[in-house]
Amino acid sequence: MRFAGLGLAALLGAAGAEAAQHEGLAAVKERGFLRVCADPSNLPYSSNDPATPGFEVELAGLIARELGVDARPEWNPTYVRALKPLRDGACELFMGLPQDARFREGNPWIAVSRPYYVMTHALVAKADAGNVTIAGLAGKRVAVELASIAEFYIAYREVERGLYRTQEAAFRAAADGQAVAAFLWLPVAAWLARGRSDLRVVPVSDSGLEFPIGAGVRRRDPGLAAAVDSAVERLLASGELRAILLRYGAVPVPRGRLAGGAIVPVQAKDPIDAGRSLFSTACSRCHGAEGVGGGTGGVIPPIRSYDGGWDKFYRIVWTGRRNTAMAAFKGILSPEEVRALYEYLTSLPKQ
Ligand code: HEC
Repeated sequence: MRFAGLGLAALLGAAGAEAAQHEGLAAVKERGFLRVCADPSNLPYSSNDPATPGFEVELAGLIARELGVDARPEWNPTYVRALKPLRDGACELFMGLPQDARFREGNPWIAVSRPYYVMTHALVAKADAGNVTIAGLAGKRVAVELASIAEFYIAYREVERGLYRTQEAAFRAAADGQAVAAFLWLPVAAWLARGRSDLRVVPVSDSGLEFPIGAGVRRRDPGLAAAVDSAVERLLASGELRAILLRYGAVPVPRGRLAGGAIVPVQAKDPIDAGRSLFSTACSRCHGAEGVGGGTGGVIPPIRSYDGGWDKFYRIVWTGRRNTAMAAFKGILSPEEVRALYEYLTSLPKQ
């Protein structure tokens, strides 16, 4: 690693907003280093411990090398307004961003490179546990991080949910037998289970659990997005990138899945289709197939061809209805997903 000391980085952070006016590839090359926003304590992704910098930090170092400069970390915990330092100009590179339409719509000022790996999920269970699949765990207790994608995924399946504040706490619950398994991000599962022969990490594949991940830069930085994208392309081709991911256990998917110039926007999924599939996982249990209304004594209103208008719909779904079974979906669905549900329901003919 070629990271310099933190003193200078901190100074640059303070001057960042101003520097952002004349950024871009040329400015980075002239300066001789690329500033990388990273979380100081988020292994296996990133860490300020030079002994184990994390795979995102190591990859950022390789990307900088490809640009002919050094990498310099700007440490910011990612659980607080993670993207703000990038927006404000405190750094030029932010690793680990999803290459998908929803992220792009929410953050139009960021260009995400072609994916360098696919973030997916895994179950962690005792090595001698029997059938370790979500379906095979029916009726058993599975530990998940509260409000995570994993929690949402199992919420509508026949397993008992054990909710924990962090992925690590969910992992510990499985490791010490409070739960039969933990359902986590694969890189985190592999990292926490390293060296534990009493545990088994079983990848779970399902398109709803897989996120192609790339490196983000500001669109307004001339030349940078294209330079980072081709750096990632070269590092994928040379195998260096894969070697780092394997070392951290963040097993990448076969190369075929990652081909193509992913900086070109991927076609957004049709919102009505997206709404239809969301509705069947998140809403139909109560509101009935295609929103015809609840089977349980008719107490659940039909929302098929909902005619209360978007604002009202959004408010009800986002915040729920107090003292009813209609829970708040804030933190579970994104605003775009609520919109997709609305598009879907209002596209259905009245019955
Ligand atoms: C656990 C059961 C349950 C689930 C799951 C559920 N709802 Fe509801 N929903 C209700 C109940 C009960 C009401 C009626 C609340 C009341 O009495 O005000 C309701 C009311 C609503 C209303 C207001 C209808 C009206 O005309 O007043 C909307 C809109 C709505 N739900 C949308 C959704 C959507 C979208 C989803 C999926 C993301 C969803 N609901 C999931 C139980 C549920």
